[in-house]
Amino acid sequence: MKDPVRRIHLRDAVLVAIVTLATWVVCGYFNVTEMLRRLTAPYERYQFDELPTVLLVLGLGLTWFATRRYREARREIARRKSAESQLAHALADNRRLAQQYVELQESERKALARELHDELGQYLNVIKLDAVGIRDDLRVTQPAAHQRASTIVENCNHIHGAITTLMRELRPTGLDELGLAGALEHYVETWRARLPEISLELSMTGDFGSLPESITVTLYRLVQEALTNVAKHASASRVTIHLDRTGGAEADKVEVAIADDGVGTAVGLPTRGLGLIGMRERVMALRGRLTFTSSPGQGFELSAQIPVAPAAGAAP
Ligand SMILES: Nc1ncnc2c1ncn2[C@@H]1O[C@H](COP(=O)(O)OP(=O)(O)O)[C@@H](O)[C@H]1O
Ligand SMILES: [Mg+2]
Repeated sequence: MKDPVRRIHLRDAVLVAIVTLATWVVCGYFNVTEMLRRLTAPYERYQFDELPTVLLVLGLGLTWFATRRYREARREIARRKSAESQLAHALADNRRLAQQYVELQESERKALARELHDELGQYLNVIKLDAVGIRDDLRVTQPAAHQRASTIVENCNHIHGAITTLMRELRPTGLDELGLAGALEHYVETWRARLPEISLELSMTGDFGSLPESITVTLYRLVQEALTNVAKHASASRVTIHLDRTGGAEADKVEVAIADDGVGTAVGLPTRGLGLIGMRERVMALRGRLTFTSSPGQGFELSAQIPVAPAAGAAP
């Protein structure tokens, strides 16, 4: 019999049958009822001789009671199993949705970055070149117009800088050209320049060149959000970022740990921010796990494990 629960039920039933038969044999051998009748004969007024019938009814009643409870328990288990399977389906749907949402967000960001570069960037360049021409032409003859043209050139440079920063946020710079390690090194370097008072350490072990794009972009975004949070909330003096690809072919996975020694926070409390929630959605969409460890005064640590399956992030 395959079902282990049924096997236990059968074993119990056989046990009950054996004990009953054994009781019958023993009672028959020793004439227990006759003995009891003799012993209780002087106390006939207590009606002890009616006990077997009463016990028989009690036994039947308890069997009826147990059978009803057993049926109820089975119905409840069936209800719970069905609720669990519905929940599992809902979770799978949710993960697929999160994955699609993240992919859509990335592709929109990519398109926006391209548009900024190709449209805005090109037109800005043309305006700047014209302004440079006008500035140089009018240098001697019209000093006032020359000054205005110089201002246009400066403004163009300013907008160009803003667009470049925006494009970098929208599309991880160099992820395609430099690979994850190079792109992260480059990104961390920009934060070193921005936050010279903080020591930023980046270390990576393992091969990150052959990861699927969904994982690469997620790792980059995790570092991006974590460093933005350090700058916004932490008042830290040291931040360590470590990425590790481990596990070999069977349990291939990437682990990320980003820790700072700043003011920390009480994790678990509801917040208005979407950064930590977004990180968790990204990691969960790839079937990974993300944990935050922190308490006031104790710094903040983020740790994520993402499996690298052949079809990582694909729908089940
Ligand atoms: N490195 C950190 N150090 C201290 N507190 C942090 C850190 N990262 C996040 N937090 C806390 O967690 C909250 C939620 O962060 P997040 O979801 O990224 O939202 P936001 O950055 O927009 O406030 C922050 O408001 C902050 O209180
Ligand atoms: Mg944030």
